[in-house]
Amino acid sequence: MGASTRKTAVVSNEELEKQKQFSQRVASVISVKYDEKPKACVVTYGCQQNVADSEKIKGMLEVMGYDFTDNRLEAKLIIFNTCAVREHAEDRVFGNVGMLKSYKRENTDVIIALCGCMMQQSHIAQKIKMSYPFVDLVFGTHVIHCLPELLYRTLTGRKRIFEIPDMDGAIAEGIPVKRDDDAKAWLPIMYGCNNFCSYCIVPYVRGRERSREKADVINEFKELVAQGYKEITLLGQNVNSYGKDLMPCVSFAELLRELSSLDGDFRIRFMTSHPKDCTKELIETMASCDKVAQHLHLPFQSGSNRVLRAMNRHYTREQYLELITYAKKLMGDELSITSDIIVGFPGETYDDFKETLSLVEAVKATSLFTFIYSPRKGTPAAEMDDPIPAEEKSKWFKQLTDLQEKISASQMALHKDKVYKCYVYGKGKLGDNYVAARNDGNLIIEFEGDENLIGTFQSIRVIEPLTFVMRGEIVKEKKL
Ligand code: 5AD
Ligand code: SF4
Repeated sequence: MGASTRKTAVVSNEELEKQKQFSQRVASVISVKYDEKPKACVVTYGCQQNVADSEKIKGMLEVMGYDFTDNRLEAKLIIFNTCAVREHAEDRVFGNVGMLKSYKRENTDVIIALCGCMMQQSHIAQKIKMSYPFVDLVFGTHVIHCLPELLYRTLTGRKRIFEIPDMDGAIAEGIPVKRDDDAKAWLPIMYGCNNFCSYCIVPYVRGRERSREKADVINEFKELVAQGYKEITLLGQNVNSYGKDLMPCVSFAELLRELSSLDGDFRIRFMTSHPKDCTKELIETMASCDKVAQHLHLPFQSGSNRVLRAMNRHYTREQYLELITYAKKLMGDELSITSDIIVGFPGETYDDFKETLSLVEAVKATSLFTFIYSPRKGTPAAEMDDPIPAEEKSKWFKQLTDLQEKISASQMALHKDKVYKCYVYGKGKLGDNYVAARNDGNLIIEFEGDENLIGTFQSIRVIEPLTFVMRGEIVKEKKL
């Protein structure tokens, strides 16, 4: 694992070994405690990083002897893996946890656990401690690998456990993963964030940026390909700064080139990129590596330079547009662009917002993820004056989504007669003999074809763009 050559902390082999022993102890405890294999229900909120963490949680639980269910009311262990990025996500968690109160009263042997970004905030952990006494276990983002020990202590002790160390974070390799899908896989290449965008809670709850060793990433990638995974998404809050903390340094573009030169039939995706670190080299790499999806998720957040400065984003709209223009020049119509936008940042005026609208017009994204600003305790933006009323922000928001709807529709029309490399993932809905496939930009194209094409990549020509899907035809069947 190269622990001696890196600047960031790595969880030691002794610690990982200790957790394996706790895992066996949990297995013994639950085999005595329950008549049949107990079920665990893991509920995930938020981003793909959380989805990937939940897959590790499930991997560890499987080794400890748990089965799984989506029905909370038949589980002996309920874990909520929470998100802190907006208030709405937090409210949902409090609502859903609250609903378990009477269930726990009647089923005292059920364990309720909370983890993830929300729990890493001290005021939230405090609220759980005081107002949700039926929650047994709370653990933060930095100790997921300690789940066997924490669960053992919960199962065998009588005290509630709150394990939320305030630290920069470390990397734990070799944790078992139980993946949700058998064709699409999430592969975290780095953790944490150093950017401190002024509205964002992530750097406070996920710690500093730390990259996994390139060899560890490549090994996991090869295993995924050998297991038959076809679409592998590299994850990080800011993948463009991957490898800056490794010794020797590695660039993200370099990693992409190495992965795409591996043998096998697969497609690489990645997210998220930060415009301030997105290099021309990365765009050139995307354009030249045929196994890298021509999809760039590049959040710009606002089109106003004044707001971008207040957000601490370190780029201008002109620089952003230059990147997009370069990417479009190299990848043409094949390229799909998606972005994140925040409406109603503190102090944003209608003129600022109009700058966002004009950037949206210029970018012509396939789709946008749009959010109304949500104040996050402890971030600089939460202290800024925010005079625009919520109703006004909602109006702006609607204006933005209406505009993007028009752009998305006109973008869909441009796909007619285009040929895309698509992954055929399942049966279609347009008719009995249709199968469904996804192109680089995650657009769904259905075509008449045999079910044995499912699990392969095919070239598909778009015949008719419909509203949410496109009808197409196979160009030339490619057998695996
Ligand atoms: N309010 C609203 N949206 C936010 N995001 C991050 N923090 C906030 C916040 N406080 C959005 C950004 C980011 C996406 C993951 O969530 O657009 O890119
Ligand atoms: Fe939050 Fe900015 Fe880091 Fe993204 S880059 S996680 S928006 S601080």
